[in-house]
Amino acid sequence: MSRARVAVLISGRGSNMTALVEAARAPDCPFEIALVLSNRPDAEGLALAAQAGVPTLAIDHRPFGADREAHERALDAALREAGAGYVALAGYMRVLTPFLVEAWAGRMINIHPSLLPKYPGLDTHRRAIEAGDAEAGCTAHLVTAGVDEGPILQQARVPVLEGDTPETLSSRVLEAEHRLYPAALARLVGDADAREGYRGPVDQSSP
Ligand code: GAR
Repeated sequence: MSRARVAVLISGRGSNMTALVEAARAPDCPFEIALVLSNRPDAEGLALAAQAGVPTLAIDHRPFGADREAHERALDAALREAGAGYVALAGYMRVLTPFLVEAWAGRMINIHPSLLPKYPGLDTHRRAIEAGDAEAGCTAHLVTAGVDEGPILQQARVPVLEGDTPETLSSRVLEAEHRLYPAALARLVGDADAREGYRGPVDQSSP
């Protein structure tokens, strides 16, 4: 079986990246992780990926200053050099320019810790608790120009419990992210319809 080559972009701790690396160990997984790439040379996730035997690279955004597209052109060259066919954003905390979004249209996926379209951006768990929501969750979606706005591929729901803090809710949602993201990525690489904009979201409620 030829497996889709996926590059994972991270900025920090890399727990979703690790979930993808672990999923790719299964012989029947339709993707392999070709590269873990970070804009932060000190990202914890880079060390985790290296320990797991995955090729890693850091391209620091700081020397590029305000020229975000120039940084992305360097990322794009590294992605192509690695032979990546797909890009998975996993806690990649930079807003992308149209250059990278268009270069990978239909082949770039993101995981976001809310039930989009609710709560794009930051601080999702505090916002869900303050709104009195009974449930929270996470969303795997295609990346388009708007932040956290692309077509939804799959979602997973978890309850918001009495007394939840942003921290307790975040760890419950993160467990759901680690199940959802490999499943959504596997589906994307195996499903041409998904790449073309999609037929509609699939709800993967947590067990
Ligand atoms: C995850 O919760 C991910 O959903 C979120 O950052 C965290 C990264 O954690 N992403 C976003 O908020 C993107 N808008 P990780 O580095 O342990 O995977």
